[in-house]
Amino acid sequence: MTFENKTFIVTGAGGGMGKETVKLLLDNGANVVGCDLHTDNLLKYEDTNKFIAFQGDLLDEDTVKDIFKVTATQFGDIDGLVNIAGIAQSATPIDEVSLGEWHHIMDINMTMIFLTCREASVYMKGNKRGSIVNIGSVSVTRPRPGLQSYVASKGAVEAFSKALALELAPHQINVNVLHPGPSDTTMLGQFSAEGASVDDTRKEIFEKSVPLGSLLTPKNIADSIKYLLSDEAKMITGAVLHVDGGRNI
Ligand SMILES: NC(=O)c1ccc[n+]([C@@H]2O[C@H](COP(=O)([O-])OP(=O)(O)OC[C@H]3O[C@@H](n4cnc5c(N)ncnc54)[C@H](O)[C@@H]3O)[C@@H](O)[C@H]2O)c1
Repeated sequence: MTFENKTFIVTGAGGGMGKETVKLLLDNGANVVGCDLHTDNLLKYEDTNKFIAFQGDLLDEDTVKDIFKVTATQFGDIDGLVNIAGIAQSATPIDEVSLGEWHHIMDINMTMIFLTCREASVYMKGNKRGSIVNIGSVSVTRPRPGLQSYVASKGAVEAFSKALALELAPHQINVNVLHPGPSDTTMLGQFSAEGASVDDTRKEIFEKSVPLGSLLTPKNIADSIKYLLSDEAKMITGAVLHVDGGRNI
């Protein structure tokens, strides 16, 4: 199997893309530590000794340190980190966005990635290898009105990932960013002004915005994450991979 004896940390593991990524990595023989505020969905994987569900707030520095400590103790070297955790912004005109809301979105979508990457670098530098995949969003190149804070946070993820790719290259650590297009998870509905779940009409609007004609599935995203973590992507770093059915064009 592709990832036999490899160990990955996946954040946002309880969400749509996260769960699918955990499943795919486990199916390919990896050891996985899945972290999220909510891990109830992941408990069914607990019957394998290759998986740990870590429940906690990834904005807490000590929690992040614990996740890496537990992973190293249980499985040894850490081969990869996948940052999937994030939040949406419901479309809001800028003059109605409070400073608190702005900070909340920037903290969860960007500061959290800073914290996990900082910790990963400590372990991966020691091992002289590693792969980090940070999830951004196609909205960085194709924004929608009212999502200014979300788009800024994801633009920061792209810039940060490129800078870190250069910084960590001498240590043989790859850092890439993957920008998903509109994907069929509960988050999709959270971008609408009402904050309601995505009804069929709205789904259709999102689908029409994708040149290939359908929403992305969590499996589409997980497959590309798997590629970026694999040996086949060994010489890819600082890259921005759009997995969006052509939405960025
Ligand atoms: N769904 C889409 O259409 C879409 C499009 C582009 C980009 N994205 C990005 O893809 C990623 C995954 O999205 P998804 O659709 O799977 O969303 P999701 O809401 O299903 O999953 C996100 C997960 O992050 C977790 N999380 C949030 N804050 C956390 C915290 N402080 N500590 C720990 N965990 C926390 C949530 O509990 C949730 O399980 C996000 O970064 C999102 O911005 C999604």
